[in-house]
Amino acid sequence: MCGIVGYIGNKQASEIIVDGLSKLEYRGYDSAGIAVVNDNDTINWAKKKGRLAGLEKILAENPIQGTVGIGHTRWATHGAPSDVNSHPHLNSAETLAVVHNGIIENYMQIREILTEEGYVFKSETDTEVAVHLIDKYYEGDLLAAARKAVSVFRGAYALGVVSSEHKGELVAVRKESPLIVGIGEGEYFIASDVPAILKYTRNVYYLENDEMVHVKDGVLTIYDGNNNVVEKELKTVEWDIEAASKGGFDHFMMKEIYDQPQAIRDTLLRRLDEEGMIHLDDIKLTKEDLEGITKMYIVACGTAYHAGLVGKFAIEKLAKVPVEVDIASEFRYSDPFIDEHTMLIVVSQSGETADTLAAMKLAKAKGARVLAITNVVGSSVAREAHDVFYTWAGPEIAVASTKAYTAQMIAFYMIALDFAYKKGAVIIERYQELIKNIEGLAAKVESILANKDAIEQYSKDMKDTHNAFYLGRGVDYTTAREAALKLKEISYIYTEAFAAGELKHGPIALIEEGTPVLCVVTQDALEEKMISNIKEVKARGAFVIAIAKEGNTEVAKVADDVIYIPVAEDLLMPVLAVIPTQLISYYVSIARGNDVDKPRNLAKSVTVE
Ligand code: G6P
Repeated sequence: MCGIVGYIGNKQASEIIVDGLSKLEYRGYDSAGIAVVNDNDTINWAKKKGRLAGLEKILAENPIQGTVGIGHTRWATHGAPSDVNSHPHLNSAETLAVVHNGIIENYMQIREILTEEGYVFKSETDTEVAVHLIDKYYEGDLLAAARKAVSVFRGAYALGVVSSEHKGELVAVRKESPLIVGIGEGEYFIASDVPAILKYTRNVYYLENDEMVHVKDGVLTIYDGNNNVVEKELKTVEWDIEAASKGGFDHFMMKEIYDQPQAIRDTLLRRLDEEGMIHLDDIKLTKEDLEGITKMYIVACGTAYHAGLVGKFAIEKLAKVPVEVDIASEFRYSDPFIDEHTMLIVVSQSGETADTLAAMKLAKAKGARVLAITNVVGSSVAREAHDVFYTWAGPEIAVASTKAYTAQMIAFYMIALDFAYKKGAVIIERYQELIKNIEGLAAKVESILANKDAIEQYSKDMKDTHNAFYLGRGVDYTTAREAALKLKEISYIYTEAFAAGELKHGPIALIEEGTPVLCVVTQDALEEKMISNIKEVKARGAFVIAIAKEGNTEVAKVADDVIYIPVAEDLLMPVLAVIPTQLISYYVSIARGNDVDKPRNLAKSVTVE
């Protein structure tokens, strides 16, 4: 977790770093800090618990001058959020400063050794060992000292290092935690993610594991893990800076909810040729490869896991391959049965989630063919996979995922359909019909969004409740799970989703007079069963809001209220049914005065286990 930014050039580093950090707060926002090498060869630093605004206030009162610096926004792992645990960390002489993202797993051993040698630790962080170890190894060469220190570390880390004795130098390294290098006019940037530097440059190098960056006297050199100089391909970032900002909405989450029709169109249409056939450019699986696959796993975390559950329905129904879906943090320790006939699909918006990455490495090592669905080009997951499907949802900034989820579901429909067609499991007429139906979802999402004021009214029923429940059956249960996750993460209301048929085996005991229960009823074959379940909770005093297809009059007879959504074929309904639940979560969060985009205790990109 955490976001790091570094700058070396001829402009004032502090402003650029703080601006960059403001784009990385989605990675964590427990504290923020900065260290800049001053013109009089000392390091000036400031750090503060809490949001970046706290640091900005300090810097407004006491500006820091200098053209080389590093900054950090933290999501606490080792040591509580506090001023002293904030980064950067400095050696006792304050000649060295380090920012770090990730976890140095063997930091306890290193800390013990350094303590015995007389080093004094101020914080509880794992990061502080980095700065003291570099100090220990320093003999006049900053790069050599950093390299030697890094060789001792186990774990995942991206580091940025500056020294007051090396004013023209910046050192950085990447291992498992993301890091990019931006190239400007006579200036260089390091950052955990592209939005931090997009204002200044579109030209970036994506670092690989163990690569080390050294900028000295205006020259950039990148070394691999064996200290050989590597020539890397400079990539141009195509994102628009507008796409990474709020675009007139009050919050990123609402902007991203509104981005969904475009995300659907971009993810689908750019992959259709003139005949309307799907072309998955970065997926090289042939008909023979597909016929050799007897089992699939879909593995992911959080919202991406829920997209995987929808993916299972699509793949099993269309491509006729058995699919198991698992949470990455469970899968990686479950000794899964994998052979060369197994395919693993990982889903990750960020492409950097530590558990997802570990799960895919494990499956790859056991011989599985690995396909990644990710939103971030060049992300770790994308680089590690054999095949990649990029969701073209654009950068997602709000912690609560919305448009990435929608785009991930579209990705699954397309993959399932493409595989099915290649295997001869669907006829062309059905193939064309389904593509048309997927394309039609974009306009249907727009029509739900046009109804957002009516949906806002439901937040009044929900905002003061202590708990809420979502129910569904079949693929509607998946929507219920995603909806419950969304509500709990941004409203802090205790919300659970249940398979409606399972209710009477325990959860129904939780229903009291007035408990809000949202029921997703979009699957024709399961509608009658759901109506019975609605009656059961109503009989126990629940206040039932149903989400149902337009024209459904039966549900209205039993529910207290119905949110009607446009009709699509049942397999595609999760894309539509989730939209009102996103809006409800958003409005409830606002009504409760929460920070919608940055909910407490959470971070957008979870790059630690
Ligand atoms: C975090 C985010 C979730 C996200 C999950 C997986 O928990 O808050 O919104 O679904 O990580 O992230 P990924 O980037 O792998 O999709």
